[in-house]
Amino acid sequence: MKVLIATDKPFAKVAVNGIRTEIEAAGFELALLEKYTQKQQLLDAVADADAIIIRSDIIDAEVLAAAKQLKIVVRAGAGYDNVDLEAASAAGVCVMNTPGQNSNAVAELVFGMLVFAVRNFFNGTSGTELMGKKLGIHAYGNVGRNVARIAKGFGMEIYAFDAYCPDSVMEADAVKPLHSVEDLYASCNIVSVHIPATAETKKSINAALLSKMPQDAIVVNTARKEVIDEDQLVSFMKERANFKYITDIIPANDAVMKAEFANRYFTTPKKMGAQTAEANVNAGIAAAKQIVDFLIHGNTKFKVN
Ligand code: 3PG
Repeated sequence: MKVLIATDKPFAKVAVNGIRTEIEAAGFELALLEKYTQKQQLLDAVADADAIIIRSDIIDAEVLAAAKQLKIVVRAGAGYDNVDLEAASAAGVCVMNTPGQNSNAVAELVFGMLVFAVRNFFNGTSGTELMGKKLGIHAYGNVGRNVARIAKGFGMEIYAFDAYCPDSVMEADAVKPLHSVEDLYASCNIVSVHIPATAETKKSINAALLSKMPQDAIVVNTARKEVIDEDQLVSFMKERANFKYITDIIPANDAVMKAEFANRYFTTPKKMGAQTAEANVNAGIAAAKQIVDFLIHGNTKFKVN
């Protein structure tokens, strides 16, 4: 059996070594395709793969059609909006993610970015502090929970909204549950976005929602760019001259945002949230173990299609 790691944005070397150990211990072969620049390279590499480990790499119907022996794709990470689940199911391919494995890394980045933002991008002018500010966590999953844990150390007041999470889970973490997304944005100085990109959430963070936030508000997005209505974000930021948007996912309208909002907008040049050795090791090795367990024992835990 051949397992392919196909990562446009490579894992840390230590993670690749750990994956190799798992795969070879099971008697399988490991192949590596990193930093590819053409889709054809991915199409060629998947041709004889029984299993693939990916990150945000796009697995669409064309890739699945080229992967004639493919049985399983594991997205080493949380969001699997980059995989065509319907096409995978039609091709009889199992798709999994590795929930929780990179969530601390993403949560730590939220605070790195927030400190940078409230200190005016380190430009030497007087900024503000996080202590005492109201933080809204938009979706209380694995990343949201880590954000809450770290926010306590900063002395923030913590609120969360998650339609699928019981109040008791938030309350056990000393987080105040709110019961509508509007209430979350209206109540908080800072909102940290952790919703997945789905048909329901795409463009759901729009001007009407943002306009509920108090003056000097900040939205930090380490989730997906698709959940923001970018055109409405631009018009809202033109009206609300003290609002800041900081993100780990380059918006489609990055050039406009940079030109219009030089002191109130920041994006990382490449998604950095999960880019730590620890997160790569956790997610990569979890993916390798899930593949071995699936190919040998048929275990479908973490299947998402
Ligand atoms: C995830 O969904 O796990 C994160 O967005 C990380 O994505 P990445 O593996 O492409 O960095």
